[in-house]
Amino acid sequence: MPSSPTSMHTNSLPTAALAESQSEPEFVLMSDWSLQGRTALVTGGSRGIGRAIALSLASLGADVAITCYTGCKFAADVTGQIKDLGRRSMSYSHDIAKPEEVEKMARAVLDTFPDIDIVVNNAGITRDRSFKKMTYDMWHGVLAVNLTGVFSVTRCFIDGMADRGWGRVINISSIIGEAGGFGQANYAAAKAGVIALTKTLALEYARKGVTVNAIAPGFVSTRMTAEVPERAMQSVLERTPVGRLAEPREIAAAVSFLSSPLASYITGHVLDVNGGMLMR
Ligand SMILES: NC(=O)c1ccc[n+]([C@@H]2O[C@H](COP(=O)([O-])OP(=O)(O)OC[C@H]3O[C@@H](n4cnc5c(N)ncnc54)[C@H](OP(=O)(O)O)[C@@H]3O)[C@@H](O)[C@H]2O)c1
Repeated sequence: MPSSPTSMHTNSLPTAALAESQSEPEFVLMSDWSLQGRTALVTGGSRGIGRAIALSLASLGADVAITCYTGCKFAADVTGQIKDLGRRSMSYSHDIAKPEEVEKMARAVLDTFPDIDIVVNNAGITRDRSFKKMTYDMWHGVLAVNLTGVFSVTRCFIDGMADRGWGRVINISSIIGEAGGFGQANYAAAKAGVIALTKTLALEYARKGVTVNAIAPGFVSTRMTAEVPERAMQSVLERTPVGRLAEPREIAAAVSFLSSPLASYITGHVLDVNGGMLMR
């Protein structure tokens, strides 16, 4: 007797996938947003976008470690607020551009939080100058923090996630990594590199329960954009369909979603959070 389409479909599922699909509800529950029981690391969590990400993940239930560099007093404020939310937290100061300092940071973080489930590679800098005037120092400085930093941090934590069969790596790239940016050859190359690294890691870890995604913000109201000259900022606003900068919380919202159990089938993706700017 021929099987019905339903039974054919069911019979073709591997046993593990069948068990998973039967144990999961058919629709999204409020609890699927929760990060209760998870532990996150946010690099550059002392201010700006990283601060909003760290506080958001804690507010959704995660314990959160953050790193800082020059802004340790700001980091103390963030860890204090996380503890006020009833979560555990710690901060560690290091130069992410130096792989040996990243390894020390990872040892200290893993001493306190042995199972890091979520890594948000957020720390970043700009050293803008026209291509003609860009020095090797400016080139290497930005590549070392914005791209090698992502490599150094991720390699300390991703295999732990794979061993436990669950993990999230979220890399903060930029619209400049997708479209280029005047005077930003170093930054654009680093942020484009982050996207390529994201996709490669997504492929390598897809069967291990670890998703790897990037977020590409447009222009966000932080210390970084405070340095943009007024005329250039006017042009940014004219080219942004929603007509304003993003708030750090709006980037944190995207990180929160990608960190959640809800995003289990999203990997190797670059999520634009840019007020529609790439449509122009
Ligand atoms: N703002 C935007 O418009 C925008 C747009 C697209 C993408 N992004 C990206 O979003 C991320 C956050 O930017 P933001 O605007 O929030 O900048 P921000 O306010 O300047 O914060 C940058 C963070 O990175 C940390 N950091 C910088 N250099 C470091 C180093 N050598 N070692 C360790 N940590 C270091 C800083 O730590 P300390 O403060 O402790 O020194 C700080 O926590 C960056 O990757 C940036 O490229 C920003």
